[in-house]
Amino acid sequence: MEKILNDTEGFVDKQSLKNYWYVVALADDVNSNPISVKLLNEDFVIWRESNGGLTAAEERCPHRQAPLSHGHLENGCLVCPYHGWTFSESGKCINIPSAADSVPIPPRAHLNTVEVIEKYGLIWLCSGKPLNPLFELEEESDPSFRRINTEVQKWKVAATRMVDNFLDITHFPYVHAGTFGAGQDTKAPNITLEHLDDDFFGYRYEILAANPEEAKSTSGSNEESVERSMTSGFNLPLTVRSTITYKSGLEHIILLLSTPIDDVSSYFTFVIWRNDDFTIPEEEVISFDRAIGEEDRVMLEKLNGAMPLDKTALVNVQSDKASVEWRRQLLKLING
Ligand code: FES
Ligand SMILES: [Fe+2]
Repeated sequence: MEKILNDTEGFVDKQSLKNYWYVVALADDVNSNPISVKLLNEDFVIWRESNGGLTAAEERCPHRQAPLSHGHLENGCLVCPYHGWTFSESGKCINIPSAADSVPIPPRAHLNTVEVIEKYGLIWLCSGKPLNPLFELEEESDPSFRRINTEVQKWKVAATRMVDNFLDITHFPYVHAGTFGAGQDTKAPNITLEHLDDDFFGYRYEILAANPEEAKSTSGSNEESVERSMTSGFNLPLTVRSTITYKSGLEHIILLLSTPIDDVSSYFTFVIWRNDDFTIPEEEVISFDRAIGEEDRVMLEKLNGAMPLDKTALVNVQSDKASVEWRRQLLKLING
């Protein structure tokens, strides 16, 4: 226990973290070429099969360790760029061009594959054995909502620091002074933690958010500031969801996804669902949230290294309640 609490540098090597789903790419990024991703310090290649499905496998070819993502696809099979060994959708080696037809393919020539799914416009990997299916968001199948995706970025920040930030609302008037936080009350509401639904645990609160020119199409209001009923909650290990409900009935849901590449860098993307009238172009809707994410990134990249998870390692106040609870549950998950 002591070791895990203080040795946060080894966070990504914790075996139990492998048994969960993490976003590694946009679904649209995996098309006619294989791609390379890194999850929890391990490299993987992902490619699209001819039937539209996906395969994810170790990135290094079992022959001479060439990076398979540098290869190409032939009829949905991956061809290694070095000597042309070819792998089918199950990672099975189906051709060794140098070998005589009569020679069987060695069993160890096949790739070790990992679990991969496509959901919410994203590619999710699980490099261990998934303990749970990925959570279902009801807005995804509700025709009054639309989904908007944006690119997957690389941040030089530990994923744990990102989750802590996404659960925290007291940085709004400071870090987000350039967007929705300008002039916002610095006093935090009294936080009561609750099950927001089957999948997310967090809290509800109200804020009066700044509504600058760039935010008006997103908020649907022309006022200088706008009342928001919000929730922020987490789904272990590293997913955060924020929901915003405006007085008009407009709902704006943001899924914030942080994937540990290693102990100090992460993939970040977010997904929006909105029940608007679908007339505002996607780019206009997402640009304000993208600017908010950029404010967080700039702040977080100033924080060095991994985040201590033990609650006694950092000073916490009432408004940090959600983060303290998330870290408590995360430590429990890691320790098994
Ligand atoms: S390294 Fe891949 S075929 Fe030789
Ligand atoms: Fe933020």
